[in-house]
Amino acid sequence: MIQIKNLSKYYGTTRAVYDLSLEVEKGEVLGFLGPNGAGKTTTMKMLTCYLPPSSGTATIFGFDILNDPMEVRKRIGYLPEKTPLYQEMRVDEYLRFVASVKGMAPPRVKPALGRVIEQCGLEEVHRRSIGKLSKGYQQRVGIAQAIISDPELLILDEPTLGLDPRQIIDIRTMIKNLGRDRTVILSSHILPEVSQVCDRIIIMNQGELVAVDTPDKLRARLKQVSVTRITLRRSDRSRGAREALLEMEGVLMVKEKSSPAQADTLVLQVESRPDRDLREGIAGKLVKEGFPLLEIFHEELSLEDIFIKLVTEEVNR
Ligand SMILES: Nc1ncnc2c1ncn2[C@@H]1O[C@H](COP(=O)(O)OP(=O)(O)OP(=O)(O)O)[C@@H](O)[C@H]1O
Ligand SMILES: [Mg+2]
Repeated sequence: MIQIKNLSKYYGTTRAVYDLSLEVEKGEVLGFLGPNGAGKTTTMKMLTCYLPPSSGTATIFGFDILNDPMEVRKRIGYLPEKTPLYQEMRVDEYLRFVASVKGMAPPRVKPALGRVIEQCGLEEVHRRSIGKLSKGYQQRVGIAQAIISDPELLILDEPTLGLDPRQIIDIRTMIKNLGRDRTVILSSHILPEVSQVCDRIIIMNQGELVAVDTPDKLRARLKQVSVTRITLRRSDRSRGAREALLEMEGVLMVKEKSSPAQADTLVLQVESRPDRDLREGIAGKLVKEGFPLLEIFHEELSLEDIFIKLVTEEVNR
């Protein structure tokens, strides 16, 4: 349904998005995940025809973003990163205004208004002016305007930014419901969010696509290393532990993970091949060589670790 082909965007000499190619299926909920400046917003602005690409293109429902921007826009609901809300307008007036700009037939507007007010939990505030609403409610109004025309494709740039925990849960549930019968692309920095809500995750970093997969497969892919965490009492005797571990067969990498809050312990993270459980070997060697071992355990990589690993490996490559 969406085909992104070699999409790139430069702002002057800043490379915001580079050679992005991707297909999105109808009905998918897709999450763009990446640190600040990864190019998420820029990609969304290009897909919604607010910003022309420097090169490459995309087709949405068979319409090209360069040749048929009006056809594309008609079919998309977009929540921009900075929502251009009209502060003096009342919520219901604003939503009616958006509906007319989108060319909705007048008889459709009233029921649509009732629907989005209910879906976005705006019953209490729909007669108030937008400027007097809290940030969370303004965000809900932003989502309401994106879904008023019941578009087949929703593009939501950080839909839960600035919301309180309760509202975050509400908005996530809402997105999941919306995703049942339409395609949704959303962006986020928050891993648990995309893994809960999305069918597929795209990890972007510095304008490039780093990985695309289902949350489960991303996790599985990075289970290619096994991680053991070791805590030693920090003393003269703990020195050299890192080197001793690196000598062991099967050890791929040893990183120091000590926290400044616990100055009396030395924490090391040992990465090894996944087919080997090195705990016994490590404990035996450390004790035999007189290192003050306090703790040892096997760690599961969280999706958060995977994300950081993918992003930092890309940077260090
Ligand atoms: N209008 C602009 N003019 C110049 N450079 C820009 C502009 N907008 C974005 N950039 C640059 O393009 C890169 C990508 O920015 P973008 O806003 O797409 O990232 P993002 O992934 O949405 O980040 P965030 O998580 O902070 O929202 C950054 O280096 C940014 O500084
Ligand atoms: Mg952004």
